[in-house]
Amino acid sequence: MQSNEIRSAFIDFFEKRGHQFIPSSPVVPIADKTLLFANAGMNQFKPIFLGDETPDHPRAVNTQKCIRVSGKHNDLDVVGMDGFHHTFFEMLGNWSFGDYYKPDAIAWAWELLTEVWGLDKDRLWATVYTDDDEAFKLWPDVTDISKDRVLKFGEKYNFWEMGETGPCGPCSEIHYYIGDDPKNQSAKGVNSSDDYWELWNLVFIQSNRNADGKLKDLSQKHVDTGAGLERIVSVMQNKSSNYETDLFSPIIQSIEKITGINAKDNPSPFHVISDHIRMLCFSIADGALPSNGGRGYVLRRLLRRASRFGRMLDQREPFMFELVDTVGQIMGDVFPEVVEKSAHIKKVVQAEESMFNDTLDRGLVHFDKSLDASSGKTIPGKDAFKLYDTYGFPLDLTMLMARERGYSVDEKGFETEMAAQKKRAKASGKFTADSGSLDWVNLSKGKDSKFLGYETMESESKVRRFASSKDSIHLVLDKTPFYAESGGQIGDKGTINGKGITLKVENTVKDGKSHIHICSGKWSESALKSVLSSSVDGPRRQNIRKNHTATHLLNSALKVVLGEHCQQAGSLVHPDYLRFD
Ligand code: GLY
Repeated sequence: MQSNEIRSAFIDFFEKRGHQFIPSSPVVPIADKTLLFANAGMNQFKPIFLGDETPDHPRAVNTQKCIRVSGKHNDLDVVGMDGFHHTFFEMLGNWSFGDYYKPDAIAWAWELLTEVWGLDKDRLWATVYTDDDEAFKLWPDVTDISKDRVLKFGEKYNFWEMGETGPCGPCSEIHYYIGDDPKNQSAKGVNSSDDYWELWNLVFIQSNRNADGKLKDLSQKHVDTGAGLERIVSVMQNKSSNYETDLFSPIIQSIEKITGINAKDNPSPFHVISDHIRMLCFSIADGALPSNGGRGYVLRRLLRRASRFGRMLDQREPFMFELVDTVGQIMGDVFPEVVEKSAHIKKVVQAEESMFNDTLDRGLVHFDKSLDASSGKTIPGKDAFKLYDTYGFPLDLTMLMARERGYSVDEKGFETEMAAQKKRAKASGKFTADSGSLDWVNLSKGKDSKFLGYETMESESKVRRFASSKDSIHLVLDKTPFYAESGGQIGDKGTINGKGITLKVENTVKDGKSHIHICSGKWSESALKSVLSSSVDGPRRQNIRKNHTATHLLNSALKVVLGEHCQQAGSLVHPDYLRFD
């Protein structure tokens, strides 16, 4: 059976048993701040499990696009090391929202696997949570599994949670022996040997993990299941690795065509690249973009890992963007977004590849030097930091390369270098305000910070309050022409003068609605009580204004060139330059 047929058969089986098909949610969660990426089929049903929403239908079936590269479920480090873990994968699932429970969930999973798909019962194992005597007894009651193939495990394997908080419960997994010698199977191999693959997880959702770590019973009991499509396809297609199935082999063939290298000669780079390009295609199609922080940095890390594996296949120019169409050919019928957005995905991937290619070779040279210079088998933190800071090597890439050579990385040393750099960056912005830690002295009463800066660059102002520190004095005025740093636009500089007062405004920042002028120069408390003349550095403001306009123009141009899906994630508007995220 082809993967498309297997996926359809799963959906069909559960639709016939009263389940409503619900499309996959995007991999970039829309409303759930606890997740960077959708990591399970149940994510979109979380409000139903928690009782915050009522479902249209008590049973659902779907195939969910999942990414497991961060947080509680993170498979990144094993991708490429085995044939059955992926950064991106599809999770088939069936759900009961307060409807059927353990007996039906177990019986249907077994029926589909053994009767419809004809998997060998003598290769299948079931596991249940240590305390779940009900499920332990049900397995031989509602299926014809042999009793000695039902095993109990503790929390690590058989209590499922989506993250640090959220709906959870005991689970029952179905494992398949994929090895060559079925007679050599043993209960000891389950959850310990790579010859036993977890195919399906039946979670009996009955609690919610609160932020304080405590479990609270939900008002209803639910079923949440997850079956990895890629592994099921492998088993059904008689393969011993997901990379040999029709979900991956066309991508691997495309890489062979581009590189002129046979995957059999060195499979690992082919596996990593084909895995990572799927993740990149789906996350970019769903609105994520590579960047230096949060979700975007996960994409950048993956792309840089894949680029470095590309170097192992002698690829010096961008090449991964050429794989986007192949991903679309394999999965576009089910997830049309990878085809509809393919032009955008290609542009983003190619631009990222080009950017990293510029520093990758020099970084590789530095990496080799740091191996030579390291005492023992540990790469010093300062070298790992230089690779990160100067050559753009994410720490996990350096660690992976180190592992390949039998080295480790001094992670603590890396963190120390990182903290030192952050401190330096903070010190270089010494005229920033931490108004909460200052002692403010009130000089006049009334509203403050009436902003005049759109009409004028100068004003006569009274000081409402001030606070002094070693290097600077902070002033809040009744009215001000100074624009305060916000929305990515830098604050104004200029002067504030009066009798006995000669101040340079080094920066203007906001504290709530108040504009704080951070100044250096000559002042006294008594002189601050008179009326002062405030004057913004006009030419500087004019340059900021130009870069502000240029940011809007760039935003429009990007939408024209790349498409309407382009989203501005942030910007920095400075007198000398602008940065557009
Ligand atoms: N929600 C079930 C699983 O992800 O395994």
